[in-house]
Amino acid sequence: MTFGSLKKTSLVLAATGFVGLGIYGMANHLTGLSTPVRADTMSKPADPIHARQEMMATAGFAAKTAGAMVKGKAPWDARKAELAMRAINAVAYGFGHKFPDNSKTGGDTEAKAEIWSEMDNFKHLIHELEEHSEKAAKAAAGGLDSFKPEFVNTVKYCKQCHKKYRDIKKK
Ligand code: HEC
Repeated sequence: MTFGSLKKTSLVLAATGFVGLGIYGMANHLTGLSTPVRADTMSKPADPIHARQEMMATAGFAAKTAGAMVKGKAPWDARKAELAMRAINAVAYGFGHKFPDNSKTGGDTEAKAEIWSEMDNFKHLIHELEEHSEKAAKAAAGGLDSFKPEFVNTVKYCKQCHKKYRDIKKK
C-alpha cells in the first residue's frame, strides 16, 4: 500500500465518524468509540515522518469539518465539532514526539530544519494547539456562538506553525 492511499484510508476512516481518533491509540477514552483501526493499515509504524504526516492529515480533515460548520457551509452539529477538536487535541498530544534528530530529511517531509534549531518554540506552538483544541472541544456544547471564537483561536496555531516550520510543497 502506498503512502498516498494510506492517507486516503485514514481520511475515509475519519469521515466515518472520526475513527481517525483511534489512529494513535490515545483518544478512545475521550470518545467512547471503539476503534480497532490502524495496526494493520499502518505499514511503517516506526517511521516518524509518515506518522507525523498522518497525524497532520487527520488534523487537516478535522479542521475542515469544523471549519465548514463555522462558516455555515455545513449544519451545526455540536458532537461533530467536539470530536473534531478532540481529534486535533489527540494529534497535538502526540505530534511533538515525532521529530527525532534522524527525521530531519527523508520521505516527502515538509518539515523545515528550523524545527530542530528552535525545538522549544516549536513545542510551545504544539502546546498551544493542545490547550486551545481542548477549550474548543468543551465550548462545542455551548453552541456555535461559543464554539466559533475557540475554533478560531485553535486554527491560528496551524497557520502560525506552518508559516515558520513547514515548507509547503505542491503535491
Ligand atoms: C507546531 C507546528 C504545527 C502545528 C501547530 C500544526 N501543524 Fe500541520 N504541519 C506541521 C509540519 C511540520 C508539517 C509537515 C510534516 C512533514 O511533512 O514531516 C505539517 C503538515 C500538515 C499537513 C500536511 C499533512 C500531509 O498529508 O503530509 C496538514 C494537512 C496540516 N499540517 C494541517 C494542520 C492543521 C489543520 C493544523 C491545526 C489544527 C496544524 N496542521 C497544526 C506543523 C504544524
